[in-house]
Amino acid sequence: MAISCPTHFDVQYLREQVRKTYDQVAQDPSGEFHFHRGPDYAVRYLGYDRTELAALPERATSRFAGVGNPISIGPFGAGETVLDHACGAGMDLLLAARRIGPGGIAIGVDMTAGMRQNASAAAQEAGMRNIVIREGVYEDLPVDDESVDVVISNGVINLAPDKEIVLREIVRVLKPGGRLYLADVIVQRELSLSARSNPDLWAACVGGALVEPELYRLVDNVGMVAGSVVRRFNCFLETSAERKVSSDLFVHSVNFFARKPE
Ligand SMILES: C[S@@+](CC[C@H](N)C(=O)[O-])C[C@H]1O[C@@H](n2cnc3c(N)ncnc32)[C@H](O)[C@@H]1O
Repeated sequence: MAISCPTHFDVQYLREQVRKTYDQVAQDPSGEFHFHRGPDYAVRYLGYDRTELAALPERATSRFAGVGNPISIGPFGAGETVLDHACGAGMDLLLAARRIGPGGIAIGVDMTAGMRQNASAAAQEAGMRNIVIREGVYEDLPVDDESVDVVISNGVINLAPDKEIVLREIVRVLKPGGRLYLADVIVQRELSLSARSNPDLWAACVGGALVEPELYRLVDNVGMVAGSVVRRFNCFLETSAERKVSSDLFVHSVNFFARKPE
């Protein structure tokens, strides 16, 4: 069960491992990691539009480390407020900001300083004034109650030791009727305790992955509705993360839609 991590887990140590991993991605995305990164991966594995990514600052696209394509899950209205609750270097945030236009606001939160610096610099480079980057954690978002139309989330809920807290924060900041466009890693059966307890595997987005029915249970527990997997991706194909877990787990990622009731 991965809605919360194993009880003996050192949550502080895990957070530091996660921060260290993504700080390294922020410094040098071409280094050795257990997961894919960058625009070519985003196009070939996740269905992003090559031309649209080519128009974005390279510092954002090269550090992309998502697992799905939340931008493709549903519409973004002109003037809407969008939150990416762990935005990394900001690729999805920039794409969302384009869709909502100058009358909207795209808020990116991330706990890793290097990622926030890249996201801010990318927004500036792209001349996009409707983007705001904030320091914070998705368990306690620096965002007002009921102020957001769409929360986007890409490859990050698996990293949370307690996923229900993260979902409750999403519900708090969403306006009534607000939408969640979520991409995350899924497994088809429970991982071994040793895999669940391996901080490296957590930081690689596998150790904390939900078993698919748990994702539905989670959104249900926090009172969201219309939960549905809308697309699947083989995001770990040919990575060292794939080789570290047994193939009958069918580790992969999903695009998932849910919304807060009116
Ligand atoms: C797998 S990357 C995904 C980043 C981005 N969504 C993307 O698609 O490129 C994970 C990101 O989550 C951030 N992160 C991890 N735990 C977090 C938390 N508790 N609160 C805020 N950000 C967090 C990391 O700093 C890192 O930038």
